[in-house]
Amino acid sequence: MRIDDALTIADLKEIARGRVPRMFFDYADSGSWTESTYRWNADDLQKIKFEQRVAVNLSNRTLESTMAGRAVAMPVAIAPTGLTGMQHANGEILGARAAAEFGIPFVLSTMSICSIEAVAKATSQPFWFQLYVMKDQEFVENLIGRAETAGCDALVLTLDLQILGQRHKDIRNGLGAPPKFGIGTFAQLAARPRWCMEMLRTKNRSFGNIVGHAKGVSNMASLSTWAAEQFDLELDWDKAKKLRRRWPRKFVVKGIMNVDDALMAADIGADALVVSNHGGRQLDGAPSSISVLESIVDAVGDKIEVHMDGGITSGQDIMRALALGAKGTYIGRSWLYGLGAGGQAGVRRALEILQKELDLTMAFCGERDINNVGSHNLHAPLRW
Ligand code: GLV
Repeated sequence: MRIDDALTIADLKEIARGRVPRMFFDYADSGSWTESTYRWNADDLQKIKFEQRVAVNLSNRTLESTMAGRAVAMPVAIAPTGLTGMQHANGEILGARAAAEFGIPFVLSTMSICSIEAVAKATSQPFWFQLYVMKDQEFVENLIGRAETAGCDALVLTLDLQILGQRHKDIRNGLGAPPKFGIGTFAQLAARPRWCMEMLRTKNRSFGNIVGHAKGVSNMASLSTWAAEQFDLELDWDKAKKLRRRWPRKFVVKGIMNVDDALMAADIGADALVVSNHGGRQLDGAPSSISVLESIVDAVGDKIEVHMDGGITSGQDIMRALALGAKGTYIGRSWLYGLGAGGQAGVRRALEILQKELDLTMAFCGERDINNVGSHNLHAPLRW
């Protein structure tokens, strides 16, 4: 199938499966342990039904909104995802370009392949930077300074990854820490010659934000050992508050699944929080993001903007999250499948698919302005 023939994110996923070496495809398409939370994120979204309305003037529809103060063409941001430059050569640059073209935010992961500087150089729209807090405070300060210099207009602090959930596929594929590169790895790479050719043409093949910036890290192998030891186990709300004070622009806290934590995020002065279980990659057995969204929205009121990620693979899913009170959503795997399927054109296709689905779903629900979407667009209240 060609990119232009893809009608759904699932189509893009199948194209990506045939183009991306299995270890990296699996890295995206996996959750921790039994993958229950990974599945629930998507399954629970499908349980939410819409209220169909008719005889409503549907001309002049708009999906434009804002997320953390940024004007967006639709309430969707590209989520920070690790190792993205391994789904496709220069993956983060291509994703940032597609996001800029579309008018939505791109969030660069600390664990990206292309560095902050490489993405800034290749794009003109400011991107957001996602921060993992490491024990090495000098390195963290340095990262924040680099994001500031690059013009990043929001810092997204991830709070749910001081320790790493166990993802069985990664371990079996040799992507654990330390990574094991054996005959199996080479066979996986050799089976994707086009991917290999593109990777050979780029310099971005290691963790760009870290290698050469953190002491004692010179390559991928030493990095994974370093990361396993270096994530800050002592990260708490005091530290989060200091980071909030340190960062002069918009500050977003990611990984909130609990009402008290949501209130803390508001308390430290974050501009937005992301209801997220890390795509089911951390606490296996946690509820789906969508099932806790409404209680968090109700608890924080207008103290802080609420965003959500987890399981979104269609415009209908975006509409569901908005109807339950999210001001914005993030897509992780949905954009990675587009990227793996066809680089920047694939990401563009993924965004077009989601935009069209969102626009038509909103219209069938009798809305013309995405900012008016709410619980009245849902059929019957849900009991989780
Ligand atoms: C990193 O953010 C991961 O989930 O692998």
